[in-house]
Amino acid sequence: MQGVTVVKHPLVQHKLSLLRDKTRSTSGFRQLVREIAMLLAYEVTHELPMTTKRIETPLQAMDAPMIDGKKLVLAPILRAGIALSEGMLELIPSARVAHIGLYRDHDTLEAIEYFFKAPHDLADRLVIVTDPMLATGNSATAAIERLKARGAHDIRFVCLLAAPEGIAQMQALHPDVPIWTAAIDEKLNEKGYIVPGLGDAGDRIYGTH
Ligand code: URA
Repeated sequence: MQGVTVVKHPLVQHKLSLLRDKTRSTSGFRQLVREIAMLLAYEVTHELPMTTKRIETPLQAMDAPMIDGKKLVLAPILRAGIALSEGMLELIPSARVAHIGLYRDHDTLEAIEYFFKAPHDLADRLVIVTDPMLATGNSATAAIERLKARGAHDIRFVCLLAAPEGIAQMQALHPDVPIWTAAIDEKLNEKGYIVPGLGDAGDRIYGTH
């Protein structure tokens, strides 16, 4: 599918199956999210622009490859997105973080914003938005709208699971934002949950169910 990368690496797929299992403990779930996040971070950054820097090894000088440009920004959608961005931060520790507080109104499924704090120079940075579940797409598209209003124009979206409905919504409103996901599931149910899915990601990460 154009603009959507499904990360089919066996480690990602195996860990995702462990994650879906309803008997997984809260600590096990959280740990798996961090591990998958690291693997997704590897994939979503694979085409970052590179430069070289003159360094001295113990043996001689060399022009060593380095990532070019300003530090990238991870933009977790609160609260479940935090677990994804924390895993990614383990691989990219110098990344900046933009927090976007949105919750889903349980009746309308609309995204309601309650917090936004981001670096001021988003226009100069790659911004990677994280949310484990791309369900209706309402939260993701609202978060991206806010980031664009603050100048961001180089944006990628990373999730664990995507529903076809969420992908369609993202591509309708933000066709310039590519998506990385570990799987595309069948559909949304009548309550807006992804099926087969993994349940409420925030509740399973934080043990609030
Ligand atoms: N958010 C979740 O946490 N799970 C879903 O299935 C859909 C949205």
